[in-house]
Parts: sequence; C-alpha cells; structure tokens
Amino acid sequence: MRRPLIAGNWKMNTDRAGARALALSVAEASKGAGCDVIVAPPSLWVCDVIDAVSGSSVGVVTQNCSDRSGGAFTGELSPAMLVSAGVAGSLVGHSERRALYGETNAAVGAKVAALRSAGLLAIACVGETLAERDAGTTRAVVVGQVDEALAQIASLDGVVIAYEPVWAIGTGRTASPEQAQEVHGWIRARARERFGEAAETLRILYGGSVTADNAAVLLGQADIDGALVGGASLKPADFARIIGAA
Ligand code: PGA
Repeated sequence: MRRPLIAGNWKMNTDRAGARALALSVAEASKGAGCDVIVAPPSLWVCDVIDAVSGSSVGVVTQNCSDRSGGAFTGELSPAMLVSAGVAGSLVGHSERRALYGETNAAVGAKVAALRSAGLLAIACVGETLAERDAGTTRAVVVGQVDEALAQIASLDGVVIAYEPVWAIGTGRTASPEQAQEVHGWIRARARERFGEAAETLRILYGGSVTADNAAVLLGQADIDGALVGGASLKPADFARIIGAA
C-alpha cells in the first residue's frame, strides 16, 4: 500500500512573511491527514518554513539542488547544505528548470544520485511537451526521462517520480484521469523492469493544474499516488482541500 503524498511547489512566489503564513496553514491542514505532505518553498525561506512547520508532519524540500558537494559553484546549493538546514530533499528536473535553465536528463540523474547519497528525498519530475504528445512520442519521452533520472541509483528508496505533462503546467489544462493513469502505468512498468517488486512501493505523483476540484478523481487512479501542486498550493484553502482529497 502506497501512502499518498501531496507536495506543494511554491515556485518563485511568496515573500518571507507570506511563506511563514502559508507554511503555518499547511501545518494546520496536515493535522490528521491520511497522506504525507511536503512543501517546496523558495530556498531563501526554507529555514523559516522549517521553523513554522516544526512539530507537524510537514516535510520541507527545495525546488532544485546541485549535484556537487561544494566549492566554486556560484548560486548553487549542495545536498550537504540541505541536510545541514534540515531540508528533507529536493525537486529535480522540473520542466521549468529543463526548459528555462537547460537542465538535461543527465543532469537530473546526477542530482538524483547526489541527493540519495546524502540520504535525501529526490522528487524527479518528468513529462512530455504538447508537440511530443501530438507526435505520439509521450511514452518514449517519459520513459527515457525516467531511465536517465534513475540511471545512477541502485534502489528506489527515497525516490519519488512526478509526472507533469508540460502542456498541463500552469495552463489550467489538466490531463484527464485516464491520460495520467496511462502514463503512470508506463512509468511503473519501467521501474519494475529495472527494480523489480520495489516498483510497487514507488510513489508516482501527478502534476499539472491540479486543483481542489479535480484532485479526488485524479488521486482515484490506480497508479496516481499523490500530486505535485503549483498554483493551488499558494491558496491555503485549496491546498487543504487537496490534502483532504488524498
Ligand atoms: P501547476 O504547477 O499546478 O500550477 O500547474 C505544477 C508544477 O509545476 O509543479
């Protein structure tokens, strides 16, 4: 049985006070929840957010991290720094990082490995563009991304996959539950080929315009084990309803 996971990706939103207030509301909403809850605030606020959710079960991750252990890498944060700050892990390979900052599949694999070496959670994001879907290459693209994300690790422990079709992110256009389930099934099948029975415990999140209204039906699909929520995670009442749906 896979325990659902609801993760809020705040992206480059909130100021310091707003992040604290949002974190407090998530901690409140997570009380008694039947799922794990994680937030990914801007890195500058992680210590405040960790402080705000202390005493709750809410986990805090960053939106990105380096695969390097330290040194002359201006602007980067190492997995060891995340450990030092009490951060639980990081998103890796979000489509915005891939599209806007040139993050490659190989880089995603290196970051997943670096996070796992540090004992941290790696939430690896995959997903096809609209052009790739229209060309009928969704399966090849997504399975290829999963392969590379998991290429440098020997176990699925501490790994979560988030399937986020690029055309559904921030667009208000959600994949249908059937479309999402189909891809989640492909991802699990691939993980099974490589990791055997451990694939049954792998949590695969759906992301892309998840709302309080569509969360329940998406989460009702056999291989959808949670959600990576962007826009709706900034609205306390909506995020609370998504947690409730899980
Ligand atoms: P969205 O973003 O929920 O605003 O579509 C999801 C994400 O990018 O993780």
